[in-house]
Amino acid sequence: MKAVTWQGKRNVSVDTVPDPIIEQPTDAIIKITSTNICGSDLHLYEVLGPFMDAGDILGHEPMGIVEEVGSETGDLKVGDRVVIPFQISCGHCFMCDQTLYTQCETTQVREKGSGAALFGYSKLYGQVPGGQAEFLRVPQAQFTHIKVPEGPADDRFVYLSDVLPTAWQAVTYADIPAEGSVVVLGLGPIGDMSCRIALHNNPGRKVIGVDLVPERLARAKARGVEVVDLNEAGKDLLAVIQEMTGGRGPDAVIDAVGMEAHGAPAASLVQKMAGLLPDAVAQPVFEKAGVDRLAAVYSAIDLVRRGGTVSLSGVYGGMADPMPMMSMFDKQIQFRMGQANVKKWVPDILPLLGDDDPLGVDDFATHRLPLAEAPHAYEIFQKKQDGAIKIILQP
Ligand SMILES: NC(=O)c1ccc[n+]([C@@H]2O[C@H](COP(=O)([O-])OP(=O)(O)OC[C@H]3O[C@@H](n4cnc5c(N)ncnc54)[C@H](O)[C@@H]3O)[C@@H](O)[C@H]2O)c1
Ligand SMILES: [Zn+2]
Ligand SMILES: [Zn+2]
Repeated sequence: MKAVTWQGKRNVSVDTVPDPIIEQPTDAIIKITSTNICGSDLHLYEVLGPFMDAGDILGHEPMGIVEEVGSETGDLKVGDRVVIPFQISCGHCFMCDQTLYTQCETTQVREKGSGAALFGYSKLYGQVPGGQAEFLRVPQAQFTHIKVPEGPADDRFVYLSDVLPTAWQAVTYADIPAEGSVVVLGLGPIGDMSCRIALHNNPGRKVIGVDLVPERLARAKARGVEVVDLNEAGKDLLAVIQEMTGGRGPDAVIDAVGMEAHGAPAASLVQKMAGLLPDAVAQPVFEKAGVDRLAAVYSAIDLVRRGGTVSLSGVYGGMADPMPMMSMFDKQIQFRMGQANVKKWVPDILPLLGDDDPLGVDDFATHRLPLAEAPHAYEIFQKKQDGAIKIILQP
């Protein structure tokens, strides 16, 4: 089959690799019809290279049709139309019983001290072949699937794999009061969808989005979000946001930026240096030293009002990054974070995926490209060229 493989920093290719086969009774094979590129893939493309091997298959936002099932895949049947969550979870362990699917004890990557295995997401998360491919082996398939109805195009459902539950969790964790205010840092797919959900769930809220990319700002603005261009606000971001929130700051801040944050040159230099080291040396640098770009999380801490909540959905990876404990303690901030527990939120989201399309999923993608064009797609998504905000690859 054809698959998108990681080859090195900022280098992916489309290769012919062996077709996946059923290895365990709980496996299923899915024929992929749509598979997105995510901001999380950019971390692999750029800074998490030391945890990748050339040839690793990328991708964790796929959907398609069940092609083959093992003998223990429950009610999953050949021919079912399914979306595959980005995390692999069993559905019956201690953590899954608490709907903490990203912490599944059956698939936890214990040798790395990580939570549940993820598709296409480096050695940190089990080095499981990903879904930017013609076919995907789904472990724990009895639980790791979301059945969706026939009819609407893939666009309607494909974001159930990641964007929708991640944004839903970000908004839920932000704990925004009914008529309260939230600042969303980053208006990529996750931040954009978080704004849409925050407004949909309560149109009386004040939702402010911050980014640096004109078309991302424009897209949020068109849906009723107040936007701040970080290029213009610069060092005055705090003052600008306070002015917009009665001098106090927002009740909540959602960080939908993560490790690729713009505006932390020193850390990015350390990351670049780590990128030049052999993997065996670079991995401990990542795991033990603080090499993240924390610009966005620092501004979240500054911006949020005293006693407010910071909800982190952006992915961070360093182990010794300094956090401003004095501000966090003094401002009495609550923090919630983590990978989204996808299936926990699906029952809340499904009613919003009808023909009236209140969240605008049908035209959320800016690009639909053949799988073969993945190298170009990664490049324009990372460089924010050609208006690329969300790209769906079609095998
Ligand atoms: N928690 C989860 O389960 C989960 C799931 C999916 C994605 N993520 C993470 O969410 C983050 C966003 O994902 P995405 O797909 O929207 O990616 P993206 O890279 O398209 O979006 C990030 C946006 O942040 C903007 N930005 C950069 N620096 C900024 C700054 N200092 N202030 C404000 N905005 C800034 C960028 O211009 C960009 O538009 C990534 O870190 C990704 O790994 C987490
Ligand atoms: Zn994703
Ligand atoms: Zn489990």
